[in-house]
Amino acid sequence: MKTKVSVIGAGNVGATTAHLVYQSGIADVVLFDIAEGVPQGKALDLAEAGPLWKVAASIKGTNSFADTAGSDIIVVTAGLPRKPGMSRDDLLYANAEVMRSVISQTAPLSPDGIFIIVTNPMDVMTQIAWQVSGFKPNQVIGMGGVLDASRFRTFLSFELGVAPEDIETLVLGGHGDLMVPLPRHTSIKGIPVRDLLSPERLEALVDRTRTGGAEIVALLKTGSAYYAPAASAFQMVKAILLDEQRVLPCAVYLNGEYGIRDLFVGVPAVLGKNGVEKIIELQLNDDEKAQVAKSAGAVRELLNTALTQKK
Ligand code: NAI
Ligand code: 2OP
Repeated sequence: MKTKVSVIGAGNVGATTAHLVYQSGIADVVLFDIAEGVPQGKALDLAEAGPLWKVAASIKGTNSFADTAGSDIIVVTAGLPRKPGMSRDDLLYANAEVMRSVISQTAPLSPDGIFIIVTNPMDVMTQIAWQVSGFKPNQVIGMGGVLDASRFRTFLSFELGVAPEDIETLVLGGHGDLMVPLPRHTSIKGIPVRDLLSPERLEALVDRTRTGGAEIVALLKTGSAYYAPAASAFQMVKAILLDEQRVLPCAVYLNGEYGIRDLFVGVPAVLGKNGVEKIIELQLNDDEKAQVAKSAGAVRELLNTALTQKK
């Protein structure tokens, strides 16, 4: 049976995600944007690479939500960048409006689909997507922890001179400055990282992870990261489509887990064909618990701001 992945937003993250899914051949791809010509042009460009990649799947660019009907997965990257004179709250309201519009027009066409939400502020956008869709909590997942953990692994690999694939780690909490990288749950082929690095060096790498997005923005000047974000979204798409049962940190609906209720925030979850198959509760120490609670508190505050938006 053919599977279908729709990517909403054909900007940097969306187009790169579409590229990865299409090149992998695991699903037909629909790339949607409100900008006329952009998704069509990028999809045609990718289709023209298909013969070179020997891809059997199809890709279509569109400005019509009808083309997303029957999607197995919908990755939402649509959003506005911050413009001069725009406050963080203005951006929050603007992207919340985009999210409401996108979800209300895609969810009814793919009632059994699974949403992966990328648009920032991601944890809040994921909660809005869930509320607007009326979907079950397992069908709506936010992408943040996979990227943050990949950044932490990258910095550890630079520091230790070891292959990143031999590094295991987790990052919990909201995808923001208060995210919680977990050195106590980080190891290199089973060797605790705290046996290999001083507390000071480890803290420096934790800080670099927390500000990893801003580091790229400062270098690019005209946009934010997209290769690693798209690779992260693709890992989640693959885990779900291929029913891999991967343990990945993602923003999922918590209803008492980690002492958090009625909020989407980043924790380790098992991803498979049903989306979120299971939430894994780690044994955290008091300091880690306090950090996760603080990060979740910041997400809840931002969510309340988004929900009290004046019409
Ligand atoms: P971009 O500006 O390159 O692309 C955004 C696209 O959304 C544009 O093509 C725009 O036309 C489209 N768009 C705007 N309103 C739309 C609507 N109503 N329907 C459909 N498309 C619409 O931005 P980029 O770099 O691709 O980032 C996208 C979002 O992802 C941003 O909010 C960014 O902050 C977020 N992001 C989140 C990450 C995460 O870890 N969760 C990582 C990287 C980016
Ligand atoms: C990042 O972490 C902007 O959320 C985006 O790169």
